[in-house]
Amino acid sequence: MTTEPATSFPKDRIKVLLLENIHPSAHELFRGEGFHLETLPGALGEDELVKRIADVHVLGIRSKTHVTERVLGNARRLLTVGCFCIGTNQVDLASAARHGVPVFNAPFSNTRSVAELVIAETVMLSRCLGDRIREMHVGQWRKVATASFEVRGKTMGIVGYGHIGRQVGVLAEAMGMRVVFFDIAARLPMGNNHPTKTLEELLGQSDFVTLHVPETPQTRSMFGAKEIAAMRQGSYLLNASRGTVVDIAALADALKAGHLAGAAIDVYPEEPEKNSDGFKSPLLGLSNVIVTPHIGGSTAEAQEAIGREVGEALIKFVNGGVTTGAVNFPHIDNGPTPGKYRILNVHRNVPGVLRDINRIVTDRGANIAAQILATDPDIGYLVMDLDQDVALDVKNAIAALGTDIKTRILY
Ligand code: NAI
Repeated sequence: MTTEPATSFPKDRIKVLLLENIHPSAHELFRGEGFHLETLPGALGEDELVKRIADVHVLGIRSKTHVTERVLGNARRLLTVGCFCIGTNQVDLASAARHGVPVFNAPFSNTRSVAELVIAETVMLSRCLGDRIREMHVGQWRKVATASFEVRGKTMGIVGYGHIGRQVGVLAEAMGMRVVFFDIAARLPMGNNHPTKTLEELLGQSDFVTLHVPETPQTRSMFGAKEIAAMRQGSYLLNASRGTVVDIAALADALKAGHLAGAAIDVYPEEPEKNSDGFKSPLLGLSNVIVTPHIGGSTAEAQEAIGREVGEALIKFVNGGVTTGAVNFPHIDNGPTPGKYRILNVHRNVPGVLRDINRIVTDRGANIAAQILATDPDIGYLVMDLDQDVALDVKNAIAALGTDIKTRILY
């Protein structure tokens, strides 16, 4: 339970701490709102973060700062955390929810960057460009047309037709390729892309197979010796999804045996923690194999878009209580209701809380202009707009209920 007073005004009381060189596109947004902004170039260790978090309302991190139970326990004023990246496992999400703190990330800001890399690699594989470039860098002039093809007219098989897969489909078609896709969910085909009924059907007709599935128990080692053997002789495999999806040893065997003509791999079952760590893989040194260090989504445009996407989500939550896109919280997105007094309440999800809260409001003679409740198994999130300014009184009474996790007033 918190007794934190209303925190949305004055706006310069909202303290935003951004760590790990978050893109300036986010700084501009927070400054534009009049929030108090502090930025640090690096990550903070747990002890340092525990010290600094006490008066922070909004925390922005990337992948290297760990927001633990201990950090959250010391974050008395924390309203929300933004992960300015895709992954969120550096945050104890369940603990954050128990503290009434929604966590946001940017799952789609780098979609286009990944799709463009896949298209570039498709052409590179088709022309053995990796090998030609490597030869030139050691002074070898090898002007050959062997094993070099146009991509026009070839078939691109996309496994996982979500955000990235669909973009790849659109771009591949624009290059004159025929596009087929396989997804476990029904997906509306873009342009002339065609769904296949089974993965085998896709593998049997694709010159290029590109993987865009998430990491799930079903996709773990989804591409092993059997699936690779089912690919066409002389075809190519691209993986810019997750490293656990492909059995790298089986892939290396298929490349050495000449069953596959090449591969482009951006993600690996084990990836180095730091840029200074070395990298080993059975794929290194194999011909027509493009290996990249998980850079599919690493572009200036993606970083800028991530700054904007997460920054906007955090501001919408601070200003209006909107939780759409939060990874650990029930979703509510109701627009502003001018002239009303908005109460945001996070509570333990036990029976009767809404009844108790409504009784508190009724007892004070106030009218509820709008009310939305969303729950997950552990917490309930209530956004309620009142006609009369009894919000502080209502807030204090809710705090006394014993089910309250966090209650905030927006005027
Ligand atoms: P998404 O969630 O929009 O799409 C994934 C699609 O895969 C969905 O349509 C889903 O139904 C489908 N799917 C799930 N299990 C499947 C299965 N067993 N067989 C066939 N289809 C299946 O995800 P998004 O944004 O397109 O990302 C795809 C992958 O790309 C993710 O693994 C993500 O982590 C990775 N990624 C990699 C980056 C990089 O730097 N290389 C950057 C961004 C994302």
